[in-house]
Amino acid sequence: MASARKTIIAGNWKMFKTRAEARALANELADGIKSERVLPEIVLCPPFTSLAEVKETVGTSGIKVGAQNMEYRMDGAFTGEISPLMLADIGVDYVLIGHSERRQYYGETNATVNSKLKAALKQKFVPIVCVGESLAEREGDRTDTVIRSQVSEALADLTAQELAPLVVAYEPVWAIGTGKNCDAKEANRVAALIRKTIDEVFSGSNLGQSVPVLYGGSVKPSTIEEQMQQPDIDGALVGGASLKAEEFLPIIRGGAKRVQLATAK
Ligand code: PGA
Repeated sequence: MASARKTIIAGNWKMFKTRAEARALANELADGIKSERVLPEIVLCPPFTSLAEVKETVGTSGIKVGAQNMEYRMDGAFTGEISPLMLADIGVDYVLIGHSERRQYYGETNATVNSKLKAALKQKFVPIVCVGESLAEREGDRTDTVIRSQVSEALADLTAQELAPLVVAYEPVWAIGTGKNCDAKEANRVAALIRKTIDEVFSGSNLGQSVPVLYGGSVKPSTIEEQMQQPDIDGALVGGASLKAEEFLPIIRGGAKRVQLATAK
């Protein structure tokens, strides 16, 4: 049942914001939600350099903090990498895994995603595993095949019980940062396919139905309402529109509406 799943609105700040800017935005958001009675789970994913700053700024507001990436090994000679232990030290709650920009520009594969997912679960972070097809894959009618293999390979060698905290984000690559939204009904169809794939891999478990599936790709205040009406979409992973409080707050309120609808059922 959709109503049993958490609604999550996550902001992926990518490689934007200095520490001062990050603190200012986190403050504005924490202020902006103060008077709201109903809220979705809100997650801010600033760059590594601002994680500690943002964690401190959100304080007791209820806002959660996530990393955009991490190394899967716990320590060692891996110049330039950030380990799960370092993120735990800062107190992050979430971690994005396998964002398409990581796959596209930094060579991450489904196998890397699997290793990072295992490390995140071990560290008790909530993992948001990102999947999505490229434009060429969509035009070549390969969307479903790509999604199925991204999901099943990401979850390999894990049990349904270990995967209980999992969150999946469906982010069609062609919709990210392009202003081109994936049609809400089509995004819902792929979200349902993600659930079905999980159910097939873990047959006999209820995992596919209990995993929150988010949509990402040019989410805006003007698109959130329709997206949140889709039965298989439980929230949003927002890039560009999460960088300004005046755009992210209405998206958060769009998520809150879904929470209200679900609790009224
Ligand atoms: P966008 O990015 O909202 O700017 O399209 C989404 C994402 O990459 O997570």
